[in-house]
Amino acid sequence: MADRVIIFDTTLRDGEQSPGASMNVEEKLKMAQQLEALGVDVIEAGFPISSDEDFEAVRTIARQVRGPVIAGLARAVPEDIERAWEALADARRPRIHTFIATSDIHLEYKLKKTREEVLEDARRAVRLAKSFTEDVEFSAEDATRTDLDYLCQVVQAVIEEGATTVNIPDTVGYTIPSEFTTIITTLRQRVPNIDRCRLSVHCHNDLGLAVANSLAAIQAGARQVECTINGIGERAGNASLEEIVMALHVRHDLLPFTTGVRTPEIYKTSQLLSNITGIMVQPNKAIVGKNAFAHEAGIHQHGVLSHKLTYEIMTPESVGVPQSTLVLGKHSGRHALKKRYEEMGYHLSRAELDKAYKLFTKLADRKKQIFEEDLLVILQDGIREIPETYSLRLVQALAGNHKPSTATVVLERDGRVFVQSATGDGPVAAAYEAIDGITGLRGEVIDYTIRSVTGGRDAVGEVFVHVNFDGRTFTGRAASTDIIDASARAYLHAVNKVLYATERQKASRDEVPVAQQA
Ligand code: KIV
Ligand code: ZN
Repeated sequence: MADRVIIFDTTLRDGEQSPGASMNVEEKLKMAQQLEALGVDVIEAGFPISSDEDFEAVRTIARQVRGPVIAGLARAVPEDIERAWEALADARRPRIHTFIATSDIHLEYKLKKTREEVLEDARRAVRLAKSFTEDVEFSAEDATRTDLDYLCQVVQAVIEEGATTVNIPDTVGYTIPSEFTTIITTLRQRVPNIDRCRLSVHCHNDLGLAVANSLAAIQAGARQVECTINGIGERAGNASLEEIVMALHVRHDLLPFTTGVRTPEIYKTSQLLSNITGIMVQPNKAIVGKNAFAHEAGIHQHGVLSHKLTYEIMTPESVGVPQSTLVLGKHSGRHALKKRYEEMGYHLSRAELDKAYKLFTKLADRKKQIFEEDLLVILQDGIREIPETYSLRLVQALAGNHKPSTATVVLERDGRVFVQSATGDGPVAAAYEAIDGITGLRGEVIDYTIRSVTGGRDAVGEVFVHVNFDGRTFTGRAASTDIIDASARAYLHAVNKVLYATERQKASRDEVPVAQQA
């Protein structure tokens, strides 16, 4: 059997379903482009029927990301499948991914259908999907809690209808590795037409076993794994892409399988996702956590200095983790900056370099030493994915242990300048109150995180906010050596996203269908 494992990334679909991880169309496109650079085989771009925005995201990615297969999710009902196809039709390599639950508990309480009815729905769904495209994936939701004889019947039926990939999800993260081995082995032994499809697994992490289960399934014969960057996803998340890929890479002796992933792109992809969603990875997270390659104990440091392999099973470079090297200073020029970014794997266009250089000189005025981590932050800050409707001219706050704090904010919009002062419980709250006073939008901050990018008193502080405007949550991000400045700009980033989303919605409502124009 071939040893190539297909990496199916569902960061933009199942990953996006995790609380606070919603992304707009531009953010999803940016993420999809990075997933293509990472070398994933399949990008599940969304669930087109779930919302107009999701539909738009799938359609945009299908049109613009031409390397990987682009998949769209659909329940096993005609409306979903037709809508998914509408979004995917322009893809170079489209895939419809249709699913229905097969466990008795889902049949009885959720679908209120018999096994025979579900079997027929599954058949019909695959048949319809197949009328649109050759590449059809079927998932038996909650497969790992499904009666194994019935699962075999369903799998056989959907292959008869033409499913090219059959996915066995551990929807609620219930299985353990040996059990997964049995399920995959049984399917391979009992389903007569199993060789006509690729078997896939999709593991959730409720017991912390998603990666272990995925690896067990691969060993038992699965040749596609569904996973997400940083392991984000519903509840405890999905299997983490970087952990599966690096396990296959590092333990190739026991896991002799290959993937198309370019591992040095891993860290960049992980950072991009965190920067877009504001969901940081825990410091001790395998592969991409801040401490994943930090050796603190003296005995470890001594060992690593003598020979890296004493305590390092893979190098930071192999997954693209930047070394905390001093890179540039105040007098470095544009050329040096461009070259440094290239060494870090970022090839900037002229416009991107212009923006990055402007921010770099600003930062170099405030901060003596600039590290690779600072350059990454500049990159995220400089290349904004949405128009800056309001920009911050000034924020000045007065704060201390006497409440309330006050802040004055000066914003600019279309050349007009607005000034507002406000009070609040702390300088950040006061600045946000002042911004609301100017924009007329009322934001409720539901999450606020600040982290220092590097060490030292002049460290850059990076702020992420999740803000609720009228029932919809938007994330904002900004970095600065001044945390009040970073906080105000992060909030403004979220405000600008709301304004942009509203404008887009209005534009799509005003769009007159071609048929009605004549
Ligand atoms: O977890 C799950 O079962 C899913 C399916 C839709 C594949 O996400
Ligand atoms: Zn899932």
